[in-house]
Amino acid sequence: MSDLNHQLEQLHQEAAVALERATTTSETESWYHDYLGRKGKMTAILRGLGQLSAEERPLVGKRANQIKVELEAALQARQAAIAQEEMQRALSAEGIDVTMPGRRPLVGKLHPTNQAIREIVDILVQMGFQVFDSPEVETDDYNFGLLNFPPDHPAREMQDTFFATTPGLVLRTHTSSGQIHAMRKYAPEPIRVILPGKCFRNEDVTARAEMMFYQVEGLAIGRNITFSDLKGTLLNFANQMYGDGRQIRFRKSYFPFTEPSVEVDVDCVLCGGDGCRLCKYTGWLEILGAGMVHPVVLKNGGYDPAVFSGFAFGMGIERQAMNKRGVDDIRLFYSNDVRFLARA
Ligand code: DAH
Repeated sequence: MSDLNHQLEQLHQEAAVALERATTTSETESWYHDYLGRKGKMTAILRGLGQLSAEERPLVGKRANQIKVELEAALQARQAAIAQEEMQRALSAEGIDVTMPGRRPLVGKLHPTNQAIREIVDILVQMGFQVFDSPEVETDDYNFGLLNFPPDHPAREMQDTFFATTPGLVLRTHTSSGQIHAMRKYAPEPIRVILPGKCFRNEDVTARAEMMFYQVEGLAIGRNITFSDLKGTLLNFANQMYGDGRQIRFRKSYFPFTEPSVEVDVDCVLCGGDGCRLCKYTGWLEILGAGMVHPVVLKNGGYDPAVFSGFAFGMGIERQAMNKRGVDDIRLFYSNDVRFLARA
């Protein structure tokens, strides 16, 4: 009996000392393997119990179990202590400075074009205009013919058109094409509509021109609408868009769908009219084209020109944003340069 008992006590001590020496999780794992695992020394002793006499077996067996339970508890305690130490070591090695300022999350914002659309639409809606949607792919008629562009009239060359492969279909070159849609929907009721949207022109891309850009069209038709109404509307718009006290001026112009036609400028938002880089030293920034709706267009829309009159205007949206922010290259809007998008 004493032989096995002796071995057992010795092993107990040896194991306890070895466990103390283990300083990493993996060392405690090999310790387990050496002593308590399937091929461990403790397990070997327990297997040997079968050879003991009937009197000895319960005594030695009991002691062996005690030792096994003790060693298992010691292992657990050792492992917990090591895990704690390892965490402390990792934490101080990482050297987290909790006083360091955090990284600011990147927050997205509306595209400058969308900001401008919302601003323009809000101003006009508040004046009583209603938003009207019209298609980006148009018939040649809506984009040109019904707007009083005669076939083969040089006016069509003012706008370089993208033609669809289906004959008679074009990508709209301006939002004016929506005028006829709005009139035909509401005639003979008076209307005040705005039509914001994408336009396309087959042009060389330059600092002043993109192939795809946005416009907002405005159209008011009623029984007593005069040029003064147009002036008042646009002055109000300019003051809300560009600031109180802004002046506007009208220059005579030509568009097939308006008569008379004008181009409208606002005094330069940067220099107030003295002349600077933004206004190319003219003191004025061009903001839009406008005029009184041509009688032929009224008729095409379903209104009797003897009874009804109207005004229309159309503005480039990026142009407004450029004027307002002093941006001098329209290509910035669609080249995905985050420095521009984040600033605007
Ligand atoms: N459609 C014109 C353009 O794209 C702008 C324009 C001018 C619209 C006069 C109008 C208008 O409604 O009356 O250049």
